[in-house]
Amino acid sequence: MQQAEERRVDDAIAQDEVAIRVRGLRNSFGDQVVHEKLDLDVRKGEILGVVGGSGTGKSVLMRSIIGLQMPDAGDVCVFGESMVGRLDDEALAVRKRWGVLFQGGALFSTLTVAENVEVPIREYYPNIGPQLRDEIAAYKIRMTGLPAEAGPKYPAELSGGMRKRAGLARALALDPDLLFLDEPTAGLDPIGAAAFDDQTRKLQQTLGLTVFLITHDLDTLYSICDRVAVLADKKVIAVGTIEELLALDHPWIQEYFNGPRGRAATAAVEREKNKAASTSPEGRR
Ligand SMILES: Nc1ncnc2c1ncn2[C@@H]1O[C@H](COP(=O)(O)OP(=O)(O)O)[C@@H](O)[C@H]1O
Ligand SMILES: [Mg+2]
Repeated sequence: MQQAEERRVDDAIAQDEVAIRVRGLRNSFGDQVVHEKLDLDVRKGEILGVVGGSGTGKSVLMRSIIGLQMPDAGDVCVFGESMVGRLDDEALAVRKRWGVLFQGGALFSTLTVAENVEVPIREYYPNIGPQLRDEIAAYKIRMTGLPAEAGPKYPAELSGGMRKRAGLARALALDPDLLFLDEPTAGLDPIGAAAFDDQTRKLQQTLGLTVFLITHDLDTLYSICDRVAVLADKKVIAVGTIEELLALDHPWIQEYFNGPRGRAATAAVEREKNKAASTSPEGRR
């Protein structure tokens, strides 16, 4: 009896620390099984990087967490609510707590940046009047590091990096607790990508966000991710810090992190650390 009670308490505590809990997920398209018995926990307040070869199902995983892809089996809990197939008010309340930046940005090309940012506000808070909506949009645009002048522009008038920020502003429109980013730095030059990463980290820290971040970008993984989940063989084969992952001898993980690009990224991080240690009197932790 007591054991069951204790277990419930443990579960409640664990639940409290977990923003997203995926269990036994299966996704398929016709004969093609993309995920089988996939488990994953995303902890509250972390930036979890999600990596895996092209076509391993990273975007499908994100889509099944946010309810755009109905899984064949399994459960997805977000902030303790089981979400699969739910359309009721409680599920809607959870849905309002996340923002999404889709692969490629997916801005509406016929709407200005400000109008794009206003889309989720119109959808979820129809009672908010136009003036307040404008103010919220302007604030979100500035938060992502875009100049206020970007608001009335159309996506086609912006650089790739600015479009990504506009997408980020839209993802932040509802003051989310949870942010989904699908390949946010793909297609950006290294400087633009690093600036976007910095912005993501800053926002995550100031707003206390949990971030589910799909990326190919080794620099992103090294510089801003607290942990990394590796998708292969239809499931999450490992989750941990990069150091922990490097200790595993899975061929894809070794190839990915210990290949030439992985070594270059490690070296760059080491250089930054040494630079910081030599310029600050206490050094870095
Ligand atoms: N709507 C869909 N219909 C059919 N197949 C799909 C669909 N979405 C994704 N797939 C397939 O599922 C696999 C995983 O896709 P995806 O999650 O987009 O990969 P990635 O890891 O590159 O993001 C791919 O083989 C892709 O072709
Ligand atoms: Mg993808």
